[in-house]
Amino acid sequence: MPDAGSRRDLAEIMAERRALVDAALDGRLPPADEPPLTIHQAMRYSVFAGGKRLRPMLALFGCEAVGGTLEDAMPAAVALEMIHTYSLVHDDLPAMDDDDFRRGRPTCHKVYGEAVAILAGDALLTQAFRVLADPIATGVPAARRLQIVAEIATAAGSLGMVGGQTMDIQAEGETLEPATLLTLHAKKTGALLRASLRAGGLAGGADDAAMACLTGYGERLGLAFQIVDDILDIEGSSAEMGKATGSDARKHKATYPAVFGLEAARRDAARLLAEAREAVRPLGDGGVVLVALADFVERRRS
Ligand code: IPE
Ligand code: IPE
Ligand code: MG
Ligand code: MG
Ligand code: MG
Repeated sequence: MPDAGSRRDLAEIMAERRALVDAALDGRLPPADEPPLTIHQAMRYSVFAGGKRLRPMLALFGCEAVGGTLEDAMPAAVALEMIHTYSLVHDDLPAMDDDDFRRGRPTCHKVYGEAVAILAGDALLTQAFRVLADPIATGVPAARRLQIVAEIATAAGSLGMVGGQTMDIQAEGETLEPATLLTLHAKKTGALLRASLRAGGLAGGADDAAMACLTGYGERLGLAFQIVDDILDIEGSSAEMGKATGSDARKHKATYPAVFGLEAARRDAARLLAEAREAVRPLGDGGVVLVALADFVERRRS
């Protein structure tokens, strides 16, 4: 664990990890010249359009924080980014949020058409589990790898992200109860972020106490992340975000600022991120990078 506990600049660590994650993604996606060309090109178009790679970072940092290696967590990191990218491709479809820009480029369906965008999402989700099933040279025991599969599947499915996306679509134009909005956000975004930390912890052989720290951090960071996303949809810059702002208002979305107000949104995001930092304090040096990542989420403009 050479870096996770050190005080090196987070941006530098993230850039280094990002290069490793992107190389692993490249190796685990079918090549662009593999027939049928269109589907493989569409998958690669959306994965390599950009993005912060936050979920892979959380898996890698979570694993290192408990004494595991980057290699132990890399299959989960790759799978999580494939699932996240599929969720964005589908989220942007006309039947859902109907957005034309993502990661600084025209959305997948704008370039490849709706049918191929749906299929690219399907294929990314499926390939994620193919990657998790592969017993490549990791030292993670099979029983732990099965736990990781279950963790990620539960978070991505109808009990997690897909359930949250369903609530999000059904809530358009509605005024939600505060508790319902919290459930919606925890499912649509929080679940996969929480699972990223937990998958990393499982890959690194975390004990129950360390898993509880990572889980507490992930739940708070996950909710704060969507609150900040909702705030940036109102006051962020579309050039920095790489996606259209104002999309939530246009679709009359149930967002945190819509339910609680902008001031409360800012205050609650800050409070949740302070709690997240506190949750990983027992991990000591191993948690230092996770503390810095909470600062990154608080200050992010993209
Ligand atoms: C966008 O996620 C969708 C939400 C869950 C808010 P990210 O902000 O992590 O998107 P990328 O991966 O950086 O493009
Ligand atoms: C999407 O939330 C969360 C997903 C599971 C994809 P949003 O609809 O707010 O995400 P953006 O703002 O389009 O990235
Ligand atoms: Mg959406
Ligand atoms: Mg959207
Ligand atoms: Mg949004």
